[in-house]
Amino acid sequence: MGRPMADKDRMEHAWFALCDVDQLGGQAIYHTELHGNELVVWRAEDGAVNVWENRCPHRGVRLSLGHHRGEALQCQYHGWQFNSGSGACRFVPAHPDAAAPPVAVKTWPVEVRYGFVWTCLAPFGEAPPFTPIEELETDAAFNAPSEGQHVRLRTVAIDAPSETVQHALAGYCFDHAHFDPWQSTECVAFDVAPNAVMIEQLDDAAHRVVFVVQPARVGRTYLHGVALGPVALTERLTVQWHHQQRLNALRDALEQQSEHLQPLSRDGVADRQPLSVPPTSPPVQPVILQRSLSKPVSASGSQGDKNSSAGHDAADRAFDVHLSRSRRTIKVAAGVTVLQSLRNHGIEVPSSCEQGVCGTCRTRVIEGTPLHRDDFLTAQERAAGDCMMVCVSRAATETLTLDL
Ligand code: FES
Repeated sequence: MGRPMADKDRMEHAWFALCDVDQLGGQAIYHTELHGNELVVWRAEDGAVNVWENRCPHRGVRLSLGHHRGEALQCQYHGWQFNSGSGACRFVPAHPDAAAPPVAVKTWPVEVRYGFVWTCLAPFGEAPPFTPIEELETDAAFNAPSEGQHVRLRTVAIDAPSETVQHALAGYCFDHAHFDPWQSTECVAFDVAPNAVMIEQLDDAAHRVVFVVQPARVGRTYLHGVALGPVALTERLTVQWHHQQRLNALRDALEQQSEHLQPLSRDGVADRQPLSVPPTSPPVQPVILQRSLSKPVSASGSQGDKNSSAGHDAADRAFDVHLSRSRRTIKVAAGVTVLQSLRNHGIEVPSSCEQGVCGTCRTRVIEGTPLHRDDFLTAQERAAGDCMMVCVSRAATETLTLDL
């Protein structure tokens, strides 16, 4: 049964953030989802940002697996190239002297605002104008970005519906004095719907965190975050660590409590149910600001680690990876990712975010148990254990056999 028209209209008339624009540097090709649509986001050499359906119109292969060609994306399968902007095919390698066929990738409207790439599900020409978010328009940190005014947080994936996440955030209020370096004792959150952005304000008003909700697919929501406020260069790691902890605590609480929270009503003023977010562990040195930051392992092994039984040691130890197709075995050293180890041996696996968020490097596991460290797979997919994100995930067993 289809979604009720009123909800469909509402979705098509809202703009949603997809990723931090800084993630598009270095010819990155970013793979993400919005309301069940697989999208590829990339920036051409002239600076134009593109949001496209992640599917080659020729044979349907994901364009996020392809190659950045400056002003075009090239599909990995048959090499068809598609122009930035229009998405029109410009070149077919099998017929180099013939005119390109009149086909184009499906494109989506794009706005780059407040450090994020936004899109709207309405087709070109029918998309409503981007509705500025007053709270952000007046914020100097976004209007004149500078090193000392904001700190990006790592996007987290939440196994809960976006309406539930938005509702829960609107009621978000907790005492985080236990780990607040500024000794703030109170924070509140309020929504700025329909753009689905939530702002949290500390009682000292020195720092705020903007949460941006991205409805990915059924039961899966991405939550982006930016901490705003004056930040000395020497404080950046501490500030980032502190707010990332909060974001991770929110994710864990939302996943645990989503079944008991009601979806947000259309007017956004449903009875608010405060989200119970327990204080996280006291601050330690920001040495944990590494790739594993979003999944810190607490003493109990429960904080953010969806494969916690394997523990921190297993996350960092060396192991072997057998490659079933090439019949090779490579060693993955402690502290080195599987993706990097493969590269070191001349084996390329498509990748994009390299933070376990976008799903591009998903690789089939034939034997062994992966130690999942990503934010892309659902709980069910993790439990199945037949695939992994090689950019961040490791092995819980002595060896892994991958379909490579
Ligand atoms: S490259 Fe994005 S999940 Fe691995």
